[in-house]
Amino acid sequence: MSTKPIGIFDSGIGGISIWKEIIALLPNEHTIYLADSKNAPYGQKSKQEIIDLCVKNTELLLKKGCKLIVVACNTATTNAITYLRNAYDISFIGIEPAIKPAALKTITKSIGILATKGTLNSELFTSTSEKFSEDIKIIEQIGEGLVPLIETGKINSIQMQILLKKYLCNLMEYRIDYLVLGCSHYPFLIPQIKKILGNRVTIIDSGEAVAKQTKAILIKNNILNTDSAFGKHLLFSNLEIKIINIFISNIKDCKINFLDF
Ligand code: DGL
Repeated sequence: MSTKPIGIFDSGIGGISIWKEIIALLPNEHTIYLADSKNAPYGQKSKQEIIDLCVKNTELLLKKGCKLIVVACNTATTNAITYLRNAYDISFIGIEPAIKPAALKTITKSIGILATKGTLNSELFTSTSEKFSEDIKIIEQIGEGLVPLIETGKINSIQMQILLKKYLCNLMEYRIDYLVLGCSHYPFLIPQIKKILGNRVTIIDSGEAVAKQTKAILIKNNILNTDSAFGKHLLFSNLEIKIINIFISNIKDCKINFLDF
């Protein structure tokens, strides 16, 4: 069991930001990444539609023999992880906006969350947010339109600049000093975000925390791969997007396959 791959999925290429952290922390693990780009963005879909897509992705990863599944998507985690954990015996690791570290460190007592509509409207996000909102202001901003631009490689486009400026300026009106990236696609925008915000705001994402949690669960379940060889990595995409290569550039031993799932 320990030599079986870790399965990871996202609505597209965003979760590659999490995948890279997992590979960096667990270099001996084999991994399989599903990019469900055909169905992106998940952020505008209903809870039931998101659950159905997560079940489809989970079934495929189980068929491919995965020993644990990382839901590398905030929208999928906040809407479907409870369902998945009840429906399957395997362990699931999820990703949620990192409100806690930002809430503990803010000096202005005001933090911004940039995430999808699906994440911000979910019960899981609302209950976490309520725990901290007594002491600090949590300003939510939907990043509408950002995921489709990332999925089509338009990270440095004028459209991206216009949208980011609009969303970040809204948040800056509340004197935020921490910005939580609540979508696994957004870490690919960090250079663009920094250009707009400068050093005034600290950006937080959850990738490293997810990798650490994955390692902890592998150890707890006694399924950590103790082989000394480096792991092999497979990416399945259901859209033939040429730009995947840009995103996986520094993942060694990675094969990209088209699969209509
Ligand atoms: N990467 C997903 C997330 O973390 C993207 C959401 C989408 O597909 O809209 O929320």
